[in-house]
Amino acid sequence: MAGRMAIIGGTGVGSFELDGEPEAHVVSTPWGDASATIGRLSGREIVFLARHGSGHKLPPHRINYRANIAALVRLGVRGVLATTAVGALRLDLAPGALVLLDDLIDFTRDRAGKTFFEGEGRVVHTDFTQPYSAQLRTALLASAEALALPLHPKGTYLCNDGPRYETPAEVRLFAAWGADVVGMTGVPEATLAREAGLHYAGVSLVTNPGAGLSPNPLTHEEVEAEMRASGPKLRALLAAVAAAVDPDALPEIGPGVDVLGFPAN
Ligand code: HPA
Repeated sequence: MAGRMAIIGGTGVGSFELDGEPEAHVVSTPWGDASATIGRLSGREIVFLARHGSGHKLPPHRINYRANIAALVRLGVRGVLATTAVGALRLDLAPGALVLLDDLIDFTRDRAGKTFFEGEGRVVHTDFTQPYSAQLRTALLASAEALALPLHPKGTYLCNDGPRYETPAEVRLFAAWGADVVGMTGVPEATLAREAGLHYAGVSLVTNPGAGLSPNPLTHEEVEAEMRASGPKLRALLAAVAAAVDPDALPEIGPGVDVLGFPAN
């Protein structure tokens, strides 16, 4: 079957307007079920998956990342554009800034399902020299330029377990490690996507200064309010890229579904 592009919507992007008559699917995988919608953008079939489930019910550490990624494989997806709400670890990244991720730090410590290669019998170490797809990053930069939409071309994402926000000392530590933004959901999603042979790009929307960088305490309402305000430009960017990229032209990447022993339909 022809490959598809997918959008994974994080906090504030729980739905996505697709053309045609979007169809909701519940996809069964060896790791559980996942829900996704298939519709069209500029004539191309696109898959949309709400990371936190419908109605934003799943906290970051309870998301079934393996089922989500495996479901995308099942639906013939080859490339994924994923959004994340993040706190900034630098004051020059103001709320509303869009950051195109180019590297990550996995600081999750207490999260199940971080790899597809868990069992005995097959040892797979996945190259992660470039954690985000170079091809999708190039396409995102081109579309942002065409839309005259400011997009920070690089950023290192640190994934923290949550669900609490950071302390000021953690924010200072993460910044000293070289991270630019902090969130709770980018890992293991990016890892699993690579293991499964999917091209994956991450666009973060800065919703707040990291803890201690602003005098005020941080609230989820503040994060959601910024997502509401800046969501439309993020959607415009993703829609443009999802429609512009030919998923079948993306080169092979990662160990892939053959190694997973889990065929696409
Ligand atoms: N920390 C972690 N995750 C987040 C933040 C934050 O400051 N803002 C939005 N998601």
